[in-house]
Amino acid sequence: MSHLITDIPILDEAKVHDEKLQGIAFESEQNKHNPDARRLYMETYGCQMNFSDTEIVASVMLKMGFRTENNPKKADVIFLNTCSIRENAEQKVWERLKQYRALKKQNPKLIVGVLGCMAERLKTKLLEQEKLVDIVVGPDAYRDLPNLIAEVDSGQKAVNVLLSLEETYADISPVRLNSNGVSAFISIMRGCDNMCSFCVVPFTRGRERSREVKSILKEVEELLQEGYREVTLLGQNVDSYKYQNTNFAQLLALVAQMDKNLRVRFTTSHPKDISNELLETMAKYDNICKFIHLPVQSGNNRILEKMNRTYTREWYLERVKTARSIMPEIALSTDIIAGFCSETEAEHQDTLSIMQEVRYEHAYMFKYSERPGTLAARKYPDDVPDEVKTRRLNEIIALQTQISKEKNLADVGKIFTVLIEGTSKRSDADLCGRNDANKMLVFPKKENLKKGDYVQVKVKYSSSATLIGEIIC
Ligand code: SAH
Ligand code: SF4
Ligand code: F3S
Repeated sequence: MSHLITDIPILDEAKVHDEKLQGIAFESEQNKHNPDARRLYMETYGCQMNFSDTEIVASVMLKMGFRTENNPKKADVIFLNTCSIRENAEQKVWERLKQYRALKKQNPKLIVGVLGCMAERLKTKLLEQEKLVDIVVGPDAYRDLPNLIAEVDSGQKAVNVLLSLEETYADISPVRLNSNGVSAFISIMRGCDNMCSFCVVPFTRGRERSREVKSILKEVEELLQEGYREVTLLGQNVDSYKYQNTNFAQLLALVAQMDKNLRVRFTTSHPKDISNELLETMAKYDNICKFIHLPVQSGNNRILEKMNRTYTREWYLERVKTARSIMPEIALSTDIIAGFCSETEAEHQDTLSIMQEVRYEHAYMFKYSERPGTLAARKYPDDVPDEVKTRRLNEIIALQTQISKEKNLADVGKIFTVLIEGTSKRSDADLCGRNDANKMLVFPKKENLKKGDYVQVKVKYSSSATLIGEIIC
């Protein structure tokens, strides 16, 4: 059996990064030197929200006396924080669980937990389908972990998948597990009320709720004191943030005002909610990055309606035009779904043409994957054949690759403000950091510069993913 155990790959640093999936296994210093501390190994799949939840879970578990562990073979508890967004996201987790069977055989006391969106979607079915699993915890039930672990310690299986109307974990300080010490994510809301017909998130994450302004600002303050220089405000639809009288534009202004050396980003925006007030707030503050991730999904009105996106192609293009008139330098990225139910060839062409009209810096592109329980799964047959979906997706990817390349080439000669994140992975002689558009720049080191400093970098040439430049001041 032992040969199987050594086969289990240790995930490091967001190595699994196809389709927004991430595996994360990082360590915190807390309780590390307590020989009696039980060891927790965690992996995270899915979006930034899940990533951010893992830091909440770590906080709860460390408080219980656990220590983090980055090697599953040494763990007493293994948690997988999972994603249900597409079939293959779930498939990855099933395969991973299968790999862990060997560990459990060797150590029958090993506790395996499934957390996050798959836990919420499948509930007790998870226990039935994979005997290995001891704990199933939905995204709103992490405070209950001490009880759930105690139940398992007493020999039972434990499940809590209750969704909440209020839970925002506002008072739990996340343990920054995968941090470069410069940029951090702050969850400002949970859940989603949008009901896009293809999307499982409203079912796995529950109703939309916004976190108290005060607790968000407190978290920003703490990060500033720890030396962080960039925050990304996170939510499934940040533009609909509303806490008492504060809307998202106002929250953004409050965060931006805290320190002019703090860079502020946010994600994700829904096109229907991108208000002029928000665009004007972005323009007003130099430290709010001129960048919006604005998922379009499709360029065709019939498909957009079927997706229940509640905007048209014309509305979307008008928002882009207004954003560019207020901030000519604004960078945009997007999400696109290929082969949604009944999509015709001409409708697919509309997606290609909107990409050409907007010219995004970057896009996440997916094949439609039917998710059980969604409106689309109940109402519309998943009738675009897989080979057609694949071909359309490849056309979308080819076009975006071309556009991204052209955009990167157009950056050559430009000067960007870059926040230094550290030494480049490729060479010790180089530093790296991002510009407003979230593009990575690599440039030769200069004395007295350290991570967290801002520099002006002139781009000399570009590769497909990176801009290469030199510091000009
Ligand atoms: N509110 C978030 C949604 C997160 S899901 C956002 O707008 O970014 C991220 C992306 O996954 C969505 O924008 C969509 O493009 C894609 N997606 C969601 N459900 C999908 C499905 N059933 N099949 C394929 N892609 C899907
Ligand atoms: Fe899903 Fe739509 Fe909500 Fe995004 S806005 S999480 S795509 S339902
Ligand atoms: Fe996946 Fe859940 Fe995020 S389904 S994309 S982890 S909200």
